Amino acid sequence: MCGIIGYAGCRPAVPVVIEGLHRLEYRGYDSAGVAFAQNKYLRVIRAKGKLSALEEKLATEQITTATCAMGHTRWATHGVPAERNAHPHSSNDGALAIVHNGIIENFQELKTELTAKGHVFHSETDTEVLVNLIAECRKREPDLLYAFAAALRLAHGAYAVCLMERGAPDTFYAARMSAPLIFGIGAGENFAASDIPAFLPYTRKVIFLDDGDIVQASAKNYRILRLENLQPAAHEPQKILWDMQAAQKNGYRHFMLKEIFEQPRVIADAMAGRVSPQGDAVLLPELDDLPVPARLHIVACGTSWHAALWGRHLLESWAHIPVQTEIASEFRYRDNLPLGKGDMALVISQSGETADTLAALRMAKKQGAAAIGLCNVIGSSIAREASTVLYTQAGPEISVASTKAMCSQMLMLALMALYWQAKQDRPTDAARRKGWLDILASLPAMLEEALPAMHETARRLSRKYAQARNFFYLGRGHCFALALEGALKLKELSYIHAEGYAAGEMKHGPIALIDPAFPTFAVALDDPLFPKTKSNIEEVQARQGKVIALTNEGTGLSADDVWTVPHLPPPLAGFMVLPALQLFSYEMADYLGKDVDQPRNLAKSVTVE
Ligand code: M6R
Repeated sequence: MCGIIGYAGCRPAVPVVIEGLHRLEYRGYDSAGVAFAQNKYLRVIRAKGKLSALEEKLATEQITTATCAMGHTRWATHGVPAERNAHPHSSNDGALAIVHNGIIENFQELKTELTAKGHVFHSETDTEVLVNLIAECRKREPDLLYAFAAALRLAHGAYAVCLMERGAPDTFYAARMSAPLIFGIGAGENFAASDIPAFLPYTRKVIFLDDGDIVQASAKNYRILRLENLQPAAHEPQKILWDMQAAQKNGYRHFMLKEIFEQPRVIADAMAGRVSPQGDAVLLPELDDLPVPARLHIVACGTSWHAALWGRHLLESWAHIPVQTEIASEFRYRDNLPLGKGDMALVISQSGETADTLAALRMAKKQGAAAIGLCNVIGSSIAREASTVLYTQAGPEISVASTKAMCSQMLMLALMALYWQAKQDRPTDAARRKGWLDILASLPAMLEEALPAMHETARRLSRKYAQARNFFYLGRGHCFALALEGALKLKELSYIHAEGYAAGEMKHGPIALIDPAFPTFAVALDDPLFPKTKSNIEEVQARQGKVIALTNEGTGLSADDVWTVPHLPPPLAGFMVLPALQLFSYEMADYLGKDVDQPRNLAKSVTVE
């Protein structure tokens, strides 16, 4: 939800900032802007639309070689996407400029007070209020860092901000509260950004800032203080081990396609070091200090919630743990959280920053439950606040639509189920456990081999179905979770209306919608539920509904399009279904000319409610 970057160093700062914004554009792309010092002024240049619009504008401007700058790419919260609402925002006197990711919840009250003091506002944003609040505090405070801190203490809500002042053109300031911000320490240059790829070409040495940290940085110096007492914050810099290649397209047309094709490696990486050398035991030391949950509440949003629904089947059937899966935005507002003695929460989030999921984690902890985090982004808020965290190790996921992250979440849920199964020491489970682990170990090679043919089928079918305006996705059991994911992927990428349904639920109403123009994508694998799903498909066909059936060789299923994927036992068959669904949506969207990696109205990291 918005990407910010600040830079102070020895290079021309605007190109560094623009390059960084390119790597943050997945966080928002309604408008973009930069600020830098030029001829004793703080210049702010902004443009509505994607970063390319800002670049076009910059190309027409005379830009000096400022060595300190900051930038922003926006996902609108307060105020429509428009240049006046784009960041950076300036204080009325033009002395300060700010970029902000987050929401200042009491901005309306602050605005009223500032208006009474003579401040004038040109945008609808909370950010313009914040920068004028800092300007107001600055009148009484000779040190900008202290004025900045004083203003932040008055502002309630979430923020990651960078600030510059006209009088100190080589310095940027930054602060973090409930929104991601990472400080990068280079040789003779320093950075702050919403995500590591923004500055990774320049440094791997980072500090994951904490909530309440406030920073002052120039090319050669920096200081990080605590907002509450302005004392130095204790931080050990960490080294980032992955490289920029992981955050580049590598010849693929889109990040999404690259990330779909990375899934065999993602599975292998997620398993690395987590299975005993004999291949018969799961090693999850992160969970060793916790008992087996009496009941597990898995809380997540979007695709991560679909992974939770899928994982529930394994946790129940393999680990014998009763599981409740909840959408985080609902869970957090339940009157009486159903957390009993011995219950645990498992929060799943690729970004580790999703506001509702983070709030759910805090609620669970407040009720005294252990809250396990399953995250992809190292050092993210959820990772840091969880009682213990398991990392999915999927590498940076750049495409706004989540693909490989879900695959890695599914893999981790399977490992967790086997880990807890072993902890219960039921003799009959041990032999089966080895069998499951063998299948998991064979997955990367199987999937690697299957992906090219899957891609081809997805491309062919997309040409046939691209004109549909509606789609049903049906499945039973673990495939119901995947049907929901298939529908989400189709709608978010191609803007085609799609509904995921439990196949058996169709006859209770939705089937009324079926006609020849309303196709159904049914997941009907060769498993014990196959006869039931087959009947549901026939019910659709009896109403002249067209059907794409994703199935296995030998089921004899009849449909308009029968798409076979390699056989795996349920529920692990999900690892073959997921990429087929992803590729179908990808091809549909690409064929329809949609912006695959940055679909309209979306952002990668949803740090607002
Ligand atoms: O970072 P998270 O896993 O917490 O994100 C949750 C959802 O916002 C995310 O999965 C979203 O639904 C994606 N657009 C799905 O492709």
